[in-house]
Amino acid sequence: PARPPTTVLGRRYAADDYTNVPASILARIAPQPALLYAPSHPLAQLRARIERLLPAHTPIPAPVAVVDVDVNFGSLGFPADHPGRAPSDTYYLNRATCLRTHTSAHEVEVFAAGHDRWLLTADVYRRDEIDASHYPVFHQMEGAAVWALFDFAAGGVVEQECEALEARLANAGIRIDDDVDLDEAGGWQPEHQVSQEMARAAALSLRHLKGTLNMLALELFGPRHAADVAAAAPSAEHEPLHVRWIAASFPFTSPSLEVEVWFRGKWLEILGCGVVMEQTLVNAHVPGKVGWAFGLGLERIAMVLHSIPDIRLFWSQDARFLSQFADVRAGSSAAGGLSPSSPSSLASQPHDAAALVTFQPYSKYPACLKDVSFWLPKAHQLHANDVAEIVRDEAHDLAESVELIDEFTHPKTGRRSQCYRINYRSMDRNLQNDEINALHQRITERLVAELHIEPR
Ligand code: PHE
Repeated sequence: PARPPTTVLGRRYAADDYTNVPASILARIAPQPALLYAPSHPLAQLRARIERLLPAHTPIPAPVAVVDVDVNFGSLGFPADHPGRAPSDTYYLNRATCLRTHTSAHEVEVFAAGHDRWLLTADVYRRDEIDASHYPVFHQMEGAAVWALFDFAAGGVVEQECEALEARLANAGIRIDDDVDLDEAGGWQPEHQVSQEMARAAALSLRHLKGTLNMLALELFGPRHAADVAAAAPSAEHEPLHVRWIAASFPFTSPSLEVEVWFRGKWLEILGCGVVMEQTLVNAHVPGKVGWAFGLGLERIAMVLHSIPDIRLFWSQDARFLSQFADVRAGSSAAGGLSPSSPSSLASQPHDAAALVTFQPYSKYPACLKDVSFWLPKAHQLHANDVAEIVRDEAHDLAESVELIDEFTHPKTGRRSQCYRINYRSMDRNLQNDEINALHQRITERLVAELHIEPR
């Protein structure tokens, strides 16, 4: 039976065999992503804080999340068979239109609008599993800086900024593990090898990117407010922040890198970045410019900075969550930008009160575990993301995790059986047995009807 068209913010999208956005996801799409601008929300505070740390970058308002597939993937050089394009991973309104999977989707249009240094923070959508750190809607911030070739001349603006950034870092508590294998990171794209000028511009871009992001990492994760700490214990020595750069691979940057910081005993990947592919800038009708881009996930960073244990809490309306961030004036520290010319030294930066909140967990409501077991039709492929999607669509934020706990093949019939365990728990209230039984029943019925499985 033909699916009806989907209406999003007053526009209709015809359905086809790729259509896979459930109502629960459609309901999240708004002209402006609410959590990024709510005054007392940790994601809004983190966005504002990074914007203050990068004052040379113009904040661009988030465009609507519905984008052409060609904008999200094609304009950035994703090959047709790139796994990120699979309907198991991406929400499609139809074959031509999807929900953006990353803020990089807007690189071409923002460069085309003439912005050279900008930040764009927006909601992004990915089909994924269900657990404490995965949610189908999350928020990314894209940042970029490009310059005209002559800005890369010896003694020019880019080199001056690099030197200023490096001078500030030299006196700060940071240890940088910088030894990246450029070949492994995609090497220099061919365009950068055609002239000495291009090669120099690309190398300086990378140097500027490193200076900027090392400084950002230090501001976000480094020893908090050296001045306060020194006041409390003037002689205390602080461990430097340890940052490492590792080779990565993105279709739209070369070289491509990831930045990790050592925080509370773990390496935490905070962002992907690289030197912007010339093709992106050609697509944006600004050939001849060279520079860098990064993309970071706000939830991930906010979760570790504030010790927030479950990603669903960002969507909670519970006053016990929101009030913990409420009295903090996000804009309370005006100074302290990362502009290389900024006179403030790291040690004298004013307090950024929002950054210091540690979430105080309130007692959790009890969990309710339910299993669902079924037979898969022979030769039938079932993607765990499809199971997660139906669970999420029915249970909304009551689904804390969905885990494949058992799998076997019947020795005689050759049929495969799977068992998923669903953990139901509300962040905000007690669940009633009847409610969960009915919910689990509805989910089981939908799994059977939509995934063509046979209950056991
Ligand atoms: N868009 C990438 C992601 O979502 C991150 C990225 C942004 C990488 C910009 C390089 C440059 O993983």
